[in-house]
Amino acid sequence: MAVLVTGGAGYIGSHTVMALLEKGKDVIIVDNLVKGHEFAIKGNKFYCGDLRDGEFLDKVFKENEIEEIVHFAAYSLVGESMKDPIGYFNNNVGGTISLLNCMKKHGVKNIVFSSTAAVYGEPRNIPILEDDDTTPTNPYGESKLAIEKLLKWASDAGDINYIALRYFNAAGAYESGTLGEYHNPETHLIPIVLETALGKRDKMIIFGDDYDTPDGTCIRDYIHVMDLATAHLLALDKLNRDGKSGVYNLGNGLGFSVNEVINKAKEITGRDIPVEMGDRRVGDPAILIASSEKAQKELGWEPKFNDLDKIIEDAWKWSKFLFNKLDQK
Ligand code: UFG
Repeated sequence: MAVLVTGGAGYIGSHTVMALLEKGKDVIIVDNLVKGHEFAIKGNKFYCGDLRDGEFLDKVFKENEIEEIVHFAAYSLVGESMKDPIGYFNNNVGGTISLLNCMKKHGVKNIVFSSTAAVYGEPRNIPILEDDDTTPTNPYGESKLAIEKLLKWASDAGDINYIALRYFNAAGAYESGTLGEYHNPETHLIPIVLETALGKRDKMIIFGDDYDTPDGTCIRDYIHVMDLATAHLLALDKLNRDGKSGVYNLGNGLGFSVNEVINKAKEITGRDIPVEMGDRRVGDPAILIASSEKAQKELGWEPKFNDLDKIIEDAWKWSKFLFNKLDQK
C-alpha cells in the first residue's frame, strides 16, 4: 500500500516525501516538473505528468495500490497569480478536480491538502485562528480556498475525508543541507537574503519600512519545512484513525520582522548583506502570525525547530550546497 504525493518534486512536497520514507512508507510521486526539480525526486517511484491528464492519472492509480494522498501539486507564486489568474485556477483547481475524480473511481478516501495562510488575506486578528474570515487578496490564495471548499463538499457527500493544512511562511531545509528550496525566479525572503550573503545578488530590497510594526518592516511566522512535513504524517494518521475532515494552521506562533531575519542571517553567515529600502510590495499584510493550537491539540503536532537560528542555519547549508552545484554546471 502506497502514499501518492502529488507535487512531490517541489519544496514542501520533497521534504514531506523524505519524512514519509523515514517512516518506512512506500511513496509514489506525481509531478509535471514545471515548478518541481529532478534533484528533489526522492520517492520509490516517479511519474512525470499533469494531474489534469485524466488518462495519465488513471494509469498511476491502476499500476499502484494507492491508499492515501498528500496533494501539493499547484502553482504557488502570489505575484505570478495576479498576472495569470486563469492559469492559476486552471492548474490548481483543475488538477484537484481530476485527482478527486480518480480517487472516487478507485475508492481512495483520504487526502491531505497543501493549503496556505494566503486564504486569510489581510487578517483581522493576530494570531490567526482557523475560523477567522477568509478573504484572499490574490488568485493564488483564492484558488487554494476554492479547493478547500470543494474538499468540504466532497467530504460532506461522503466521497472523501480530508485535512487541509494552512502553512504560514515555510522556510529552512533538510538537515543534511542536500535538499531545500529552489524557485526560479526566487521571491521568498530567506533564500533571497542568503543569495545576497553568497554574493549572488549585489543587494536585496526590503519591501517597505513604514508598516505598523516595531521596526516598520513586515512580520511573518517562519516555520521549518521539516516541521511542516511531520504535520502531513500526523494528518494522515488522524484520517486513518477517525476519518474526520478539518482545516489546520501550521506556524510557530512567533513573528519575526524582515529586519530581524536579515540581522539573524548576517550573524549566522558572518557575511555582509547589502540592503536597499524599497516600496511596499502590493498585497503584503503587515503581520501574519498563526495560532496552531488546533493542530497541536488535535494532530498532536509540536514544531521541533521553532527558533529562527535553526531555520536560517539549515537554509544556509542548503544555499551553499545549491550554488556550489549550480556554479559547477
Ligand atoms: N520581502 C522583502 N524583500 C524580498 C522578499 C520578501 O522585503 O526580496 C518581505 C516581504 O515583503 C514580506 C516578507 O519579506 O514582508 C516575507 O515575504 P515572502 O515572499 O518570503 O513570503 P510572504 O509572506 O509574502 O508569502 C508567504 C508564502 C506564500 C503565501 C503568503 C500568504 O510564501 O505562499 O505567505 O500571504 F501566499
